[in-house]
Amino acid sequence: MAAPLPIAWLNGAFQPLAEARISPLDRGFLFADAVYEVLPVYAGRPFLFVEHIARLERSLGEIRMRSPLTRPAWAALLTELVERNGGGDMYLYVQVTRGAEEGRNHALNPALAPTVFLMACPLAPLDESVRLTGVGAITLPDERWGRCDIKSTSLLANVLAKSRAADAGETEAILLANGKLREGSSSSTMVVKDSVLHAPPYGPEILPGTTRDLALKLAAEAGIAVCVGPITEEQLRTADEILLSFATRGVLPVTRLDGAAVGAGRPGPVWSRLAAAFEAHRQALAGTPLLPAG
Ligand SMILES: Cc1ncc(COP(=O)(O)O)c(C=O)c1O
Repeated sequence: MAAPLPIAWLNGAFQPLAEARISPLDRGFLFADAVYEVLPVYAGRPFLFVEHIARLERSLGEIRMRSPLTRPAWAALLTELVERNGGGDMYLYVQVTRGAEEGRNHALNPALAPTVFLMACPLAPLDESVRLTGVGAITLPDERWGRCDIKSTSLLANVLAKSRAADAGETEAILLANGKLREGSSSSTMVVKDSVLHAPPYGPEILPGTTRDLALKLAAEAGIAVCVGPITEEQLRTADEILLSFATRGVLPVTRLDGAAVGAGRPGPVWSRLAAAFEAHRQALAGTPLLPAG
């Protein structure tokens, strides 16, 4: 993983990331009392800005916080962070914690000022081998908490699941519960069967994915049939294609699941149509404003 870019933003000021400091009494540090977002930036422009900020606002609302900035203020801040880090392609990490306090108290203190931290990271182009051969995944039981729809920094179960995938030499851990597909440890998961693109329904157990939402929209526009509904483990294991989606990588084909070939064992036609639609959409958005006028 490449090192982050040099300039960060912390609590009102741009500064070198290497010099950024927070208190050990910050509730983000003590309790993972914090939410975050990750946005890709293409040619200097944050991608799906409104969708990411809307999800951040929702996550904050669900943990009884308000967004510390308005949408225009977020747009200006993100744009300046990108420029200060040289523009081009990158991704932005945005974290809002409930703030630092006098001691370690579980109960909320509404008087706290939130900690707001942003950094930028390099976004390397997708390895050509992924396009040609896809990636591998393992399955694991979902051991996370009951509110995975909140993009919380409380990610220990995700971290452990991803590490199990890495131990197995694979890219992602796909999480299952009660015989049903949930999502990846850091991605949404979709499956293709008989040319229909299936995605599990949203609810407290999975994160609403900005990339998945766009993928389903682009699929429908491209004439691919889309079905949102529960997906069984059996359907996952007998899928023609399995797709992962996440902001930093778009849509990736999974060609190996628990060591067995998925479908024909190579990236499938729905993935390749979606990848092309994604690229066209990305180019169509280049240079357009982040926020709708008015
Ligand atoms: C658990 C989880 N689900 C789904 C996603 C995909 O969300 P997005 O497409 O907005 O990146 C992520 C992305 O980080 C994630 O961590």
